[in-house]
Amino acid sequence: MKKTFVFLLAFYSLVQAQVPDGKSVFETYCWGCHHQSAEAFGPAFTTIANKRSKEEIMAYVLEPKAMYKAFGYKRTVMSQLKLSDAELNAIANYILSYKGK
Ligand code: HEC
Repeated sequence: MKKTFVFLLAFYSLVQAQVPDGKSVFETYCWGCHHQSAEAFGPAFTTIANKRSKEEIMAYVLEPKAMYKAFGYKRTVMSQLKLSDAELNAIANYILSYKGK
């Protein structure tokens, strides 16, 4: 019984560790250029969250070069980042958590 419990606990923490959290994706990949609530090199997450959908955010992060014209930019200087689907999903949810803030 005790062994099963320990095993389940270990398994649970392993699964937890693999689900990327939006804040850490932000700190790893976006922080140098974006800030949650202030305009930095790139627009603030509050600004983005108030005008874009989740699909738009994910598409932009996936390939800024394919999206910048549609978003109204004359050029793009944002780096093309290699995020996993789970990281992409987590960062889009994280940005959208700033909607209305
Ligand atoms: C090298 C700096 C840089 C990095 C790193 C970067 N960005 Fe950007 N980002 C920009 C700039 C500058 C813009 C403005 C348009 C452009 O140049 O593409 C932008 C634009 C965007 C937009 C579109 C804004 C709009 O008009 O709605 C989104 C969404 C975005 N960034 C998300 C992210 C996310 C999420 C990350 C991290 C995973 C990230 N960016 C990393 C610089 C960066």
